[in-house]
Amino acid sequence: MSVQEVEPRRYGIPLSALNASQIDAIRRIPRHEDSKPPAIEARRPVDIFLSEDYWAKERDAIFRAKPVAIAPSAVLPEPGSVMAHDGYGIPLLITRDRHGEARLFLNACTHKGAMLVEGCEAHKWSTVTCPYHAWTFGLDGRLIGVPREETYARFEKKSRPLTQLPCKESGGIIWGILDPGARADFSILSDQIASDFEHLGIPHAHAYGYRRFELDANWKLVMEPFLEGYHVQRLHINSIGPMGMDMFADIIPVADQFGPHLRQTSGRGNYKPEVLDDPKINIKSYITHAYNLFPNTVVVTSPYYTSVMMMMPVSAGKTLVDYHMLTESAPDNPKAEELYSRSFTIIQDVFGNEDFKASETCHRGLSTGAIPDVIYCGMEEAIPRFYEGIEAFVEPMPIAAE
Ligand code: FES
Ligand SMILES: [Fe+2]
Repeated sequence: MSVQEVEPRRYGIPLSALNASQIDAIRRIPRHEDSKPPAIEARRPVDIFLSEDYWAKERDAIFRAKPVAIAPSAVLPEPGSVMAHDGYGIPLLITRDRHGEARLFLNACTHKGAMLVEGCEAHKWSTVTCPYHAWTFGLDGRLIGVPREETYARFEKKSRPLTQLPCKESGGIIWGILDPGARADFSILSDQIASDFEHLGIPHAHAYGYRRFELDANWKLVMEPFLEGYHVQRLHINSIGPMGMDMFADIIPVADQFGPHLRQTSGRGNYKPEVLDDPKINIKSYITHAYNLFPNTVVVTSPYYTSVMMMMPVSAGKTLVDYHMLTESAPDNPKAEELYSRSFTIIQDVFGNEDFKASETCHRGLSTGAIPDVIYCGMEEAIPRFYEGIEAFVEPMPIAAE
């Protein structure tokens, strides 16, 4: 085959690459003109966003007790690698041993507690050495090297391994339970969502871009715009608008719940049921998948990349967001590089300057006491559903009578 005859690389995935449940959800999407959002009555008191006491209950019952997403597997793809993670207020160390197994430890040396690894880049290391006195640990957490070991009386290295936390990799996401004493109970994770992510290529994706956002807003206010399409044609009118507002339709998605996790499948502006008859289309150019993984993670597909975001609360009014952009593979030609880098800039702009900013202004506005509760409409029906998932573990706050 001559150079000219080489088929251009195709990006994206066909409908047939998805699993039966995803295909069924896509086939349930009505024509845009037939989408009829219901009228609903749902409210939540503003104190679920403002109260430090409520946040402390969420922290104890959910963020320190249940599995939380730490990072996409793609950030640590290679066996024999190590990475620090500090987003949850606990210094963590993620390792992938030489057999490929991911593990989670406290990033604290068992000599005097020094931080073993700083920063957030992945390192290709077969061991981890503490910068302070150079105790060395294996990627399985065993203490394997102690300088001047003979000067410790009655000391056995095996008595001081790194402190391990329960960890599980599922659907291309590394999950952990942030309590070293907790049972490794990951039963809340969804096998269906793990399968969905495998069919979307997430476990084998390439980690193209990463950015940490620091927001002055409650973490749930940061989650909210990813649970509803009500704002899209309105808040994003100046950013997405010029690209053709018909990219996104003013409809409610097909919502499927898997335990406390939610999958929202929606047709983009260009979607008509007939497009599904063409086996060659990139299904992600017509369909958006948005997953809200309990408690604090959002995964959204775009035609040529996938966004993975963890909204990590620091306090009632502060949230760190880890934004990861995953692509099918590393860009292997200038056109792909151009497409990915432009997309990375645009998405940071849309999420950062619009969605996240709206969360911050809402937090500030709610803090004024302007309203006693927030009210949700049928275009936002996934939001109260998401709160019901939280309320299964944290007692709901009463709504003041009108
Ligand atoms: S604190 Fe790590 S070796 Fe001393
Ligand atoms: Fe948005």
